[in-house]
Amino acid sequence: MTATTSKTSVKEMPDAISILTADHKKVKKLFKDFEYMKESGSPAEKEELVAEICRELTMHADAEEQIFYPAAREEIEEKNLLDEAEVEHAGVRDLVSQLQSMRPDDDLYDAKVTVMSEYVNHHIEEEQNEIFPKVKKAKLDLERLGEQILEFKNMMSPEYPPPSKPTRSKSVRTRI
Ligand SMILES: [Fe+2]
Ligand SMILES: [Fe+2]
Repeated sequence: MTATTSKTSVKEMPDAISILTADHKKVKKLFKDFEYMKESGSPAEKEELVAEICRELTMHADAEEQIFYPAAREEIEEKNLLDEAEVEHAGVRDLVSQLQSMRPDDDLYDAKVTVMSEYVNHHIEEEQNEIFPKVKKAKLDLERLGEQILEFKNMMSPEYPPPSKPTRSKSVRTRI
C-alpha cells in the first residue's frame, strides 16, 4: 500500500484554469503576431493568422460556455460576472463573424482585428482577475472540468477548420 498517492496520480492532467489560461496566452501571442504582421505581412499571411485567431477564440468560447461557465455558475455567488462574460463573448463572436466574411485588403480589416484584440484582452483580464479566483475558492473539481474541456476540444477541432484559406477561388465558410 502506498501512503501518499492522493494528488500525485492526477498530476499530469492540467486543471481547467490552467488550460483556459494557456489558451489566453496563446491567443494573446497570436494578436501580438498580427500587430507585427500588420505593416509588412502579405494578405495571405494575415488571412491565415486571423483564421487561426478566430478558430482559437471560437473553440475557447464554446468550451467556456458549454463546460466551464455552467459549472462555475452553480458554485459562485457572483452570477453577474458570468452574465457579463457571456455578453462579451457575443461581442467577440460578432467580430469573428465579420472578419470571416472580409478580406485582408478590405477597409477596416486591420482595425477590426485590433479592436477585437483589445476586447479580448479586457475579457481575459476580467476572467483571470475576477472569475478564476472565485472559482478556485469554490468547490469545483477543476481537474475533472479540465478533462472535459480537453475532450471537448479534441472532439471539436476537426470541425473548426480555418474559415477562409488563402486559396482564392473557394470561399470556405464556417458557422460559429
Ligand atoms: Fe477565457
Ligand atoms: Fe471567456
